[in-house]
Amino acid sequence: MVASVGIVGASGYGGAELLRLLLGHPGLEVEVVAAHSQAGEPITGLFPNLPGNRVFDAVDLGRLAELDLVFLSTPHGPSLDLGAALHDAGVRTVDLSGAFRLSPADFATWYGEAHPRPDLVPAVYGLPEFNRKQVADATLVANPGCYVTTALLGLIPLAGLLEPGSVVVDGKSGTSGAGRAAKDSLHSTHVFGSVTAYGAPGHRHTGEIEAHLAGFGEDLGPISFTPHLMPIARGLLTTSYAGLRPGVTADQVQSALADTFADEPFVHVLAPGTFPVVKSVVGSNGCRLSAFVDERTNRVTVVSVTDNLGKGAAGQALQNANLMLGLDETTALTAIGMYP
Ligand SMILES: NC(=O)c1ccc[n+]([C@@H]2O[C@H](COP(=O)([O-])OP(=O)(O)OC[C@H]3O[C@@H](n4cnc5c(N)ncnc54)[C@H](OP(=O)(O)O)[C@@H]3O)[C@@H](O)[C@H]2O)c1
Repeated sequence: MVASVGIVGASGYGGAELLRLLLGHPGLEVEVVAAHSQAGEPITGLFPNLPGNRVFDAVDLGRLAELDLVFLSTPHGPSLDLGAALHDAGVRTVDLSGAFRLSPADFATWYGEAHPRPDLVPAVYGLPEFNRKQVADATLVANPGCYVTTALLGLIPLAGLLEPGSVVVDGKSGTSGAGRAAKDSLHSTHVFGSVTAYGAPGHRHTGEIEAHLAGFGEDLGPISFTPHLMPIARGLLTTSYAGLRPGVTADQVQSALADTFADEPFVHVLAPGTFPVVKSVVGSNGCRLSAFVDERTNRVTVVSVTDNLGKGAAGQALQNANLMLGLDETTALTAIGMYP
């Protein structure tokens, strides 16, 4: 049986990537491709890679409520309203924004506003490598942030080996991470041939890493996180540094990572001494990571790469949806990254 799905925010980068993936999915039919200012406009006007002559739909809650599952790929403001309305209508939803990822207290701290539906948060956090059963049973799934996914996949397995208060995460993303809207700082003149940090301290992904490292691993206290903008369209790399607890060896670090992901289809642990390459995961739902221990400083460094629109957004959202609908988790997600 084919399940019916809809995308709200299909005219954005995350939504369009979802549509690209869903068009190759044998078990899901995309019945709604909704946009906001782009409603009524042809999809190919914005995304010439997508086939057909469909136009973007307007957002119609009644129509969405008839579907088996809805993806919200909207900013957190509209997601707060739409996610709550769909939840109340009993519609299974995967939200790609930060609207439902944090507890009411953490949401107030990092988003600067009271959560309008504290009864719904934190929703089930869609990081299937650590909680596939909860995802499969959930009505509302909060899809993790792109930097957060990439950093957490390397940090959660090591949490019990790390010194509290010592975690530093350095993130680097391609420009599609900021969405489709034109901004001066994203103009090619500023981005091409350059790299810059932004948003620190206080980037919202800082609180999300802290909260879910505590939830899935151990509470390691406050972390430092600085994101950077790279002159590429898509792809993301995090480098995470942390002090090791006394007596922890490089073999323990490697085993913790390799054992955690031994049977995982999308997370690949590389041998120590090799480093993952951003481009190797672009166009895929993969995460590739490796770690090394510096005995001189007794610190571990974990380098991890994803496609910010793949495992960092739409790919992981589809992975979660497959689980929620009882489908093979890897359906329509087995593409290998493009290289070179
Ligand atoms: N880009 C990434 O790498 C990435 C990674 C992880 C998570 N996310 C999250 O995913 C969500 C989408 O990100 P994006 O990069 O795809 O953003 P985007 O390119 O800016 O797209 C935003 C989408 O939301 C729609 N929208 C805006 N206001 C709306 C409203 N009031 N009601 C309904 N739809 C509305 C827009 O429609 P119109 O264009 O028609 O106005 C557009 O389709 C965000 O919450 C973002 O934080 C993004």
